[in-house]
Amino acid sequence: MTRRRRRRTVRRALVVAAWVAGLGVVVSVVVMAFSGAGPSTTPADPELIAAGAEVFASSCAACHGANLEGTDSGPSFLDPIYAPNHHADAAFYRAVRQGVVPHHWNFGPMPPRPELSNEDIEAVIAFVRSRQAEAGITFDPRHG
Ligand code: HEC
Repeated sequence: MTRRRRRRTVRRALVVAAWVAGLGVVVSVVVMAFSGAGPSTTPADPELIAAGAEVFASSCAACHGANLEGTDSGPSFLDPIYAPNHHADAAFYRAVRQGVVPHHWNFGPMPPRPELSNEDIEAVIAFVRSRQAEAGITFDPRHG
């Protein structure tokens, strides 16, 4: 092997090493985002999810659909627009406490649900996020 060729081989090895290191960073960021380390994901506690399913069925399903699929009166939470990076958990507290003035769709307004406690809302979020995750709705690419 000539000296020049050896130097090129070394350089190529360095480029590959840099790529692998970069990939490692990307992978760990993605793993963190999906493992609940991000600010807007609720830990998947099965009891909380089950409690949230009940609250959702009695207070939200009439408009958002029993399986989050939406109805004539409200949007589906399986639309990527409701992924956690676009509608964070705070949007759920705000919607339930203050209601929603229509701004994404033409279903009309969502009335507030003052009878629900913060624990109810936390449970509903856990339920919605678990169903969204099952459907692959974890990130809205249009929102960044
Ligand atoms: C009477 C029908 C109705 C009910 C019941 C209802 N919603 Fe909604 N909700 C809507 C409509 C309509 C919108 C969409 C408004 C728009 O953006 O155009 C909406 C939007 C939302 C949003 C998005 C808010 C935003 O910032 O864009 C959240 C979160 C939400 N609803 C949560 C809930 C939860 C949780 C429940 C149950 C506790 C619930 N909704 C019950 C009709 C309803």
